[in-house]
Amino acid sequence: MAMEAKALVLAMMIMLSWILAVRAEIREMEVWSDARSIIPFDEFGFTRWGGLELNVTDIAFSSALESTAAAAGDMDLSQLGFFLCTRDAWLHVLRQLQDLDITCALQSDLVRVVYSFDRLLPPPNPSGVAVARASTFRLALNLTDSPGQFTLVFANCLPPLRVSMSVRSAMFNRPDPFDPSRRAYLSAGAAALPLVYSLLFFAYAALATIWAAVLVRRRRATFGIHYFMLAVVVLKAFNLLCEAEDKSYIERTGSAHGWDVLFYIFSFLKGISLFTLIVLIGTGWSFLKPYLQDREKKVLMAVIPLQVVANIAQVAIDESGPYARDWVTWKQVFLLVDVICCCAVLFPIVWSIKNLREAARTDGKAAVNLMKLTLFRQYYVVVICYIYFTRVVVYALVTITSYRFLWTSVLAGELATLAFYIFTGYRFRPEAHNPYLAIDDDDEEEAAAEALRLDDEFEL
Ligand SMILES: *[C@@H]1O[C@H](CO)[C@@H](O)[C@H](O)[C@H]1NC(C)=O
Ligand SMILES: *[C@@H]1O[C@H](CO)[C@@H](O)[C@H](O)[C@H]1NC(C)=O
Repeated sequence: MAMEAKALVLAMMIMLSWILAVRAEIREMEVWSDARSIIPFDEFGFTRWGGLELNVTDIAFSSALESTAAAAGDMDLSQLGFFLCTRDAWLHVLRQLQDLDITCALQSDLVRVVYSFDRLLPPPNPSGVAVARASTFRLALNLTDSPGQFTLVFANCLPPLRVSMSVRSAMFNRPDPFDPSRRAYLSAGAAALPLVYSLLFFAYAALATIWAAVLVRRRRATFGIHYFMLAVVVLKAFNLLCEAEDKSYIERTGSAHGWDVLFYIFSFLKGISLFTLIVLIGTGWSFLKPYLQDREKKVLMAVIPLQVVANIAQVAIDESGPYARDWVTWKQVFLLVDVICCCAVLFPIVWSIKNLREAARTDGKAAVNLMKLTLFRQYYVVVICYIYFTRVVVYALVTITSYRFLWTSVLAGELATLAFYIFTGYRFRPEAHNPYLAIDDDDEEEAAAEALRLDDEFEL
């Protein structure tokens, strides 16, 4: 049907920027009295013409053992330093360490040592007191012809020793090898993201326009939920616009994101509104019944604060980067909250399905109820597919795709999200004749009775 084909579209989701740590850029990091033997800094995908700049200041050592500090002059500082390493190589380095082939990751021939701290020592001090150690170094490296996804790592192989320093690092690619002043600060696999996000922004802008037109045309058949859907799509579109701007700003300058605050506000609102929408649709609010039951309100009251927590964790993850000690904790918080939200939004749908099934058995309007039942069942399956795809499949894609094509996982997740919005909008679109109430003839009754029998066989 032409009308149906025109009628459209809606609503959803949280993107997986947290899976891809692609916010590579110029970073400032403070390491304070840290005894960890390995501190990972940023990860970056280099193309054939890459570069690394490292400015480290305020280097200081301390130790729990007093005597070690006194003997600082004797320390073998070649056991401290920065190196670059791919993930695959890192596994081999770990094996080498385990087999005692080497005693320090810096000795491995599989890593690329960027700077080891013995270079810090000033010329031998005749008085024998090694106080005049330089506490600053600056470094610029050209990484030509060694493309790959590297992590900048600091190794401290002098165990009780604690290190403090301020690190400023910049990793970048040179898009044009003949113009070395031009730098692209987005990792090789993320360079396409500004374009991907821009195109998706246009897709959602078109969806929002179509949906608004549908709402105006079918004013009489619209419910509150339909306007809410419009708000969700608009938020998603603005969020994508901010993502695109944010990524291209990082690409160009490597520094603080242009529309930082807007970006977080929209992500925040989008996350909350999307989950709220799924719960509201799941309960059948506004087009099946004008009110929410207590337990459904409870689900909403749980999901909204959880989304707030998830967004805060997301910001903490983005801003701190893997070198922070509690980075892993924030990631776990985020994952846990995300899983809880995903499960929570399924409950109202299950309850609706149960209610509709009971209603179909007891009252006379089996056909009507069964149509709704089918719709809700379909929605349940689609929500599960959506969650599964964006949480599990996309994550698997990230793991198996080459570092240069990491953007394809983002695209896959976003397309799944777009499909979910479209499905939701299409299935719950406003219709001039509400189909759930319109069908009542005998054929339908028979079909309904048949469906009810099938339904008993397939308990959800
Ligand atoms: C790196 O290469 C660029 C040209 O590609 C050159 O201008 C620059 O001086 C080089 N830097 C270092 C540290 O070798
Ligand atoms: C390192 O220091 C130099 C000189 O002060 C500066 O030009 C460069 O931008 C700094 N790099 C980083 C990554 O901070």
